[in-house]
Amino acid sequence: MQFPSEAPLSAEAYDFLARLIYERSRIRLGPDKHSLVSGRLGQRLRHLGLNDYWDYCKLLQSPVGEGEIGELIDLISTNHTEFFREQAHFDLLDRNILPAIANRLVLAQRPLRVWSAAASSGEEVYSLAIVLAEFARLRSGFSWQLEASDISMRMLDRCRRGIYPTDRVNLPSPELLPRYFQRGFDEREGYYRVKAELRQKINVQYINLFQPSYSIGRGQDVIFCRNVMIYFDVESREWLVNRLTEYLAPGGYLFVGHSESLIGVRHKLRAAWPSVYMRPE
Ligand SMILES: C[S@@+](CC[C@H](N)C(=O)[O-])C[C@H]1O[C@@H](n2cnc3c(N)ncnc32)[C@H](O)[C@@H]1O
Repeated sequence: MQFPSEAPLSAEAYDFLARLIYERSRIRLGPDKHSLVSGRLGQRLRHLGLNDYWDYCKLLQSPVGEGEIGELIDLISTNHTEFFREQAHFDLLDRNILPAIANRLVLAQRPLRVWSAAASSGEEVYSLAIVLAEFARLRSGFSWQLEASDISMRMLDRCRRGIYPTDRVNLPSPELLPRYFQRGFDEREGYYRVKAELRQKINVQYINLFQPSYSIGRGQDVIFCRNVMIYFDVESREWLVNRLTEYLAPGGYLFVGHSESLIGVRHKLRAAWPSVYMRPE
């Protein structure tokens, strides 16, 4: 068991860390987040054998600091997520959007393209995968592609593994569990794993939403970028929404979190439903 470092976090070190985190991820740490930063980084300092935050700042600036910056952002980012979080979005996809565009896609013989752009540990992605797989069971000729990305390597690992405690796997209907999950035995007792057929359908990759370009095809039909914009300032949100718009197909949809309206953000999208926006055709 490691105990957090008791090193005091000076204002100078805090400002340095907050600025670096903003530059790299656009996560904005206000002046009131000292205890969040020392709470999340204390154990890391101890692990590195450092007693002073300023030494940690020097490490981040050193030639070997680049890898540590990834660790830093990993520790600072908030990764909370759930299966079928904000379920109205999944219902909307299933009942309104998919029935409306499936015919066109089937005729064009092209798959639906979906991207979960701040996927965290994968619950959102697998919820999407279940909705798409269920729709495909009933609509012959319908196919789909699903991309998942995040800035946190730790979360991407979990996403790829697809192993979740049983009490976290809350699905909208009971028959979905045996269809898409395997129960763990022995040392995996108490966990479910997403079945390989579903995991293999998903391409999981590192993407920082503020990197210059994305290794994702333009022409996405649906982008989920939910519960991440709250950590960004208006200027960064505006940049991001306009960048994501470039990756949407005409008529494609951008989903943001229920509490993340685009009020104050200049964009070219049309509000389609609450927290869902469409790129005009
Ligand atoms: C609170 S989780 C949201 C997960 C999921 N979208 C949901 O709504 O349940 C926010 C995720 O955004 C990721 N994130 C934060 N800044 C990012 C950035 N600049 N680029 C990509 N992902 C980022 C974090 O690592 C975290 O996993």
